[in-house]
Amino acid sequence: MNDASPQRKRHYILVCASCGRQYDDDGLILDCTAGHDPALLRTQYSDDLFNPSADHEGLFRYQRWLPVSGARQHGEDTGRTVVYRSSGLAGLLGLPNLWIAFNGYWPERGARLETATFKDLEAYSVLGRLPEHRVILTVASAGNTGAAFAWACSRRQLPCLLIVPAKGLRRFRFRGPLHPCVNIVVIEDGDYPDAIDLAAAVSGIPPFHAEGGVRNVGRRDGLATVLLSAFEEMQCLPSYYFQAVGSGTGAIAVLEAAKRIRTAMGGLALPKLMLCQNRPFTPIFDAWRMHRRSVSGSTEHFRDAIQHVYADELTNWAPPYAIRGGVYDSIVESKGDVLAASNATARSAADMFSELEGIDIEPAAGVAVACLQDAAAQGSFEKEAVVLLNITGGGRRRLGRDYSLIQAEPGLRLTRKSLAGEATAYQAAALRDICGRKAIQRSILTVQSAYCAISGIRVNRN
Ligand SMILES: Cc1ncc(COP(=O)(O)O)c(C=O)c1O
Ligand SMILES: [Zn+2]
Repeated sequence: MNDASPQRKRHYILVCASCGRQYDDDGLILDCTAGHDPALLRTQYSDDLFNPSADHEGLFRYQRWLPVSGARQHGEDTGRTVVYRSSGLAGLLGLPNLWIAFNGYWPERGARLETATFKDLEAYSVLGRLPEHRVILTVASAGNTGAAFAWACSRRQLPCLLIVPAKGLRRFRFRGPLHPCVNIVVIEDGDYPDAIDLAAAVSGIPPFHAEGGVRNVGRRDGLATVLLSAFEEMQCLPSYYFQAVGSGTGAIAVLEAAKRIRTAMGGLALPKLMLCQNRPFTPIFDAWRMHRRSVSGSTEHFRDAIQHVYADELTNWAPPYAIRGGVYDSIVESKGDVLAASNATARSAADMFSELEGIDIEPAAGVAVACLQDAAAQGSFEKEAVVLLNITGGGRRRLGRDYSLIQAEPGLRLTRKSLAGEATAYQAAALRDICGRKAIQRSILTVQSAYCAISGIRVNRN
């Protein structure tokens, strides 16, 4: 039976965070159709007990609280977050109840996320949510999300179009070649939001379909498993949760998971979200500290700041901050805070982590460690508190030592200028070529109109 058919009931419904309207999921829906201000949809599962599945060791251990359905649910399982109590870093910081949620590759600890970041969790959950009928999933990424989708789509042989700034391409290194259903477009001089714009424009034309970022419940519930793994291991919720954020999707998801656990277990306090950004790129930090309900700043300022950050995977200048159920609401509800770390402290924190805990970590994770170190030194929370530190990516260097990784190449390279101009025959043909390799047949007209739509949007914005 087709997953998308109305007869097939999924094990959850979608509920609007603003008006409470309920939807049966077709595997693709991203937004509430009521005409109110932007708001997230949330999953509501029929099983409200915390009930990990004993049949799975990886992500699908939490399938009862994942919006995955039918045949796609039963694909080969993937890794999940490994949670352990720190001794090295905990000793140095004087935090006896510091726990680490490690997302990445670290075989000695059983960590086997194949692209070495927590983005693997969202990719498999998003793919598991898709209906049986095929769309070309269109994903914008700064690098790590794209890499996770590239590898997951390749393994599942599901067509996708990934749009990334050229500097993100170095993260597209895999244990094997990608299946040809994976198409990569690079914007040579672009930043992450340029990729978001282009993906949004292309997604307007079927069979391209926007993956949707934070609006996709598959993404958030996949990331929410970080907290589910932590709860299973720790047998309690942390009082503080530290994570480096660009969009903040993972942090929103962790709060949603905490509320789900609270309902299941009763009477637990929610963790305070401690969100961490890398100076000088700090739109969420700035908005929160200035008591603003929305982020602000000029494109020029952000493009310049991006040139100067250590953790460029955190450079989203249009995070889902104001949206109902988004970053702002989540910080308020959890009584959390936003912190920031300089490049120098993030770098040395990453080195310190590697020395004390024994594995290399991503720059973003270094930012989180630096902010935790600073908060502990300032006495921002009681030393005995139960703290969960999300190492959102780690073991990439280790992965490179254990495997000879293959660099993936883009099918098309664009520039910001080319996107702002008229569609040329060459560019239209190039876009057709990269997407025409898949089983899905489309006419050149569709591709040309896709390209014109992209150009139109860019022209109007500039
Ligand atoms: C390793 C790592 N950590 C943290 C983040 C931040 O995630 P988000 O942008 O969803 O807040 C990213 C984003 O790409 C990442 O790659
Ligand atoms: Zn609504």
